[in-house]
Amino acid sequence: MAIKHFLQFKDFTRDDFEYVIERTRWIKNQFKSYQKYWPLEDRTLVMIFEKASTRTRLSFEAGMHQLGGAAIYLNTRDSQLGRGEPVEDAAQVISRMSDIVMIRTYEQEIIERFAANSRVPVINGLTNEYHPCQILADIYTFIEHRGCIQGKTVAWVGDANNMCNTWLQAAEVLDFKVHVSTPPGYEIQSELVGKIDPSRFKVFADPMDACRGADLVTTDVWTSMGFEAENEARIKAFADWCVDGDLMRAANPAALFMHCLPAHRGEEVTAEVIDGPQSVVWDEAENRLHVQKALMEYLLLGRIKG
Ligand code: CP
Ligand code: NVA
Repeated sequence: MAIKHFLQFKDFTRDDFEYVIERTRWIKNQFKSYQKYWPLEDRTLVMIFEKASTRTRLSFEAGMHQLGGAAIYLNTRDSQLGRGEPVEDAAQVISRMSDIVMIRTYEQEIIERFAANSRVPVINGLTNEYHPCQILADIYTFIEHRGCIQGKTVAWVGDANNMCNTWLQAAEVLDFKVHVSTPPGYEIQSELVGKIDPSRFKVFADPMDACRGADLVTTDVWTSMGFEAENEARIKAFADWCVDGDLMRAANPAALFMHCLPAHRGEEVTAEVIDGPQSVVWDEAENRLHVQKALMEYLLLGRIKG
């Protein structure tokens, strides 16, 4: 049987997500009531980081421990990956010694090549193109606060980056709309999003128009990891793409604000918004833990009966 990976959001069907979201609810509830749940006892997660991380490392490592398994951290600096060992060879070796692998790297192509040579499931912990675990956590957070996301509108303000691409894929799979406003020169690259029904997204020149009536307003850093050389140009280009109180007031009064973090107050978002009453950024961060536990359980054990 083919191994199931989670390399981009559209690798899963709506039915897969409905199952994982339901399991997340149960797993989170067990955790909150101090119930031991060890379905992955004796299983090992290998985490490979080629970029920095706080939340992703912590949530995967703590999550695997909480499920009874072990997690091993590798980075480019201290492993042979940084000395040019081919990713295909690394995949062969690492997947013979572990049960599941999470990778944070640069080009999506690297994780695709790893997965093609892996004997075990591979999870995307962020690439230049996608961040599917974060969007899974964001959608779970939306559902916890506001119920079903189907038919709702998400406003994306800022860079058409890995987060934006993944929101667009999620809109296609889970049937909601995304309003996107990016500065000129930083628009959506449709080849990265894949096939998406044109009714699922709309592009706006003015971020205020993108936010009008939205149920969720979300943004991300102006300069993602790996694009630091463009920082100066981006600071100029993105100056008007800051989520402030005026943008939030244009949205639905019940709109939530999300940011995957880390955030730069005074750049892509004001302190008033990220630290304000509509912001759910801490729940979003915490939910990385719970959704990824459900995701690892699903990839390793399939659907739990009963
Ligand atoms: N949101 C997120 O992925 O955070 P880290 O970069 O800290 O892992
Ligand atoms: N878009 C950001 C997300 C960080 C979690 C980046 O890729 O750096």
